[in-house]
Amino acid sequence: MTDTDWHDLGAADDFRRAPVTETSIGPLRLAISWTTEGFGAVSGVCSHAGGPLGEGRLDGEYLVCPWHHWKYHRVTGGGEPGYEADAIPRYDVRESDGRLLVDIASATKRRKAKHAPHPLARPVERAPGPPRVLGISTTNMERGHSRYSTSEALLEHALNFASQSLGTEQQIIRLRDLDFRACEGFYSKSAQACTWPCSITQMDPHDQLDRVYEALVHWADVVMIATPIRWGNASSLYYRMIERFNCIQNQVTIANRVLLKNKVGAFIITGGQDNVQQVAGHLLGFFGEIGFHFPQFPYIAHSRGWSAEDMENNVRSVQASTDLREGAEQLMARAVDAALLHLDYSDADHLRSRGGRKAHRLAQENGG
Ligand code: FES
Repeated sequence: MTDTDWHDLGAADDFRRAPVTETSIGPLRLAISWTTEGFGAVSGVCSHAGGPLGEGRLDGEYLVCPWHHWKYHRVTGGGEPGYEADAIPRYDVRESDGRLLVDIASATKRRKAKHAPHPLARPVERAPGPPRVLGISTTNMERGHSRYSTSEALLEHALNFASQSLGTEQQIIRLRDLDFRACEGFYSKSAQACTWPCSITQMDPHDQLDRVYEALVHWADVVMIATPIRWGNASSLYYRMIERFNCIQNQVTIANRVLLKNKVGAFIITGGQDNVQQVAGHLLGFFGEIGFHFPQFPYIAHSRGWSAEDMENNVRSVQASTDLREGAEQLMARAVDAALLHLDYSDADHLRSRGGRKAHRLAQENGG
């Protein structure tokens, strides 16, 4: 019996061509590194989410995972300062007659420190209580210098109606108030690199999209999105938000885990120019794809048409429109009624409550 098990990886000079080279011995993946200090050999699999360390880069003596940038000493396998307890296997490595040899029997043990899970990672369980409505306003404006937004005004009206007449709980998130990074394409590295919670959310404590994730995934029954029409599309803030929802849809694909269940979406779309149906088509397609249900007639919209450049009159016409405010109320009633259909109300039996009956009656009157 021998306590070594040396394997020939190939010509040593081949491993000098790059600071880090990925190689394997059968199923064993290795990251071989080279500096003027010599060779290092460690596991090619990151302890975080299985990232390919052999495709990483060197930062001094540390090997950086290409997925979320965890670092390990390229020779000892230990974690970077402060995270030494996260260690990957390291192997004895030597050069002999121009060949690079690794002793796989010399492997040290993989060690993973206990990391407290991100709060968003908890199981998705609807807490008992009345229907909950989340309004998301996606319009942008100068901070500290608010202007009248037709889409946001109708959203606020719908939320007030829900509170006063339907017995719901509600909150509004104005995306412009949040500092959040655009999606940085972790999915483009690998499907597995796009994690739930979002990789950015886990790595950047200053990123504030966690508030949207918390409300959307863990809290809301109804999500009402309000958007202006910008060059025929929803607002840029809206797109910046939904790109970050890839991590929600990706859980279905890679983990068979459906984060959004029994949730209803509804939309308010307003603009000085047309293209209402294109914006609505996108909203319905996207929210359908991530798991939302919709009430009958799932959006209201307003536009005075392509040639209406007199925007101040657009604002006035929305402010003066009883139809639009009633439309916002009826949309909210249909959405809450649809949410009730999807919820188990054995605890609160909200359908027998005043608000629930009203939501149902209004929805029936309005085609829901
Ligand atoms: S840092 Fe390596 S998989 Fe996340």
